[in-house]
Amino acid sequence: MKICRRAIFNSAHRLFRAEWSDEKNLEVFGNCSHPNYHGHNYVLEVCLEGEVDPLTGFVMDLKDLKEIIREEVTERFDHRNLNLDCDEFASVIPTTENIASVIWDKLRKRIDQQYALEVILSETENNKVIYNGR
Ligand code: NI
Repeated sequence: MKICRRAIFNSAHRLFRAEWSDEKNLEVFGNCSHPNYHGHNYVLEVCLEGEVDPLTGFVMDLKDLKEIIREEVTERFDHRNLNLDCDEFASVIPTTENIASVIWDKLRKRIDQQYALEVILSETENNKVIYNGR
């Protein structure tokens, strides 16, 4: 059985490589490379797969999952500039792929190994990435 909890955070970012020119960055990263940063309304879904506990009828109490997501993700990233405010992206370009990977690593440390963990992150209504550790 798989259970999912949704969370939203708003963050600014810029996709660029410092050693590339602005023109080259714009060519590779498009609008997400504008020098003065811009924001996205990120939609995160965190899914856990495991057995239903016969005592509670839960896979995991979603209140507990909500709290872990708040501590590990929204408190750190909501209303932040990912490039400037978050050490996680000091040397990692904050693409949707890399943000999902960072979130998965943080959550994996907090969630019991009995559960398979999947992170789904949408940067826009049309773009999403799904990461389950590989
Ligand atoms: Ni962007």
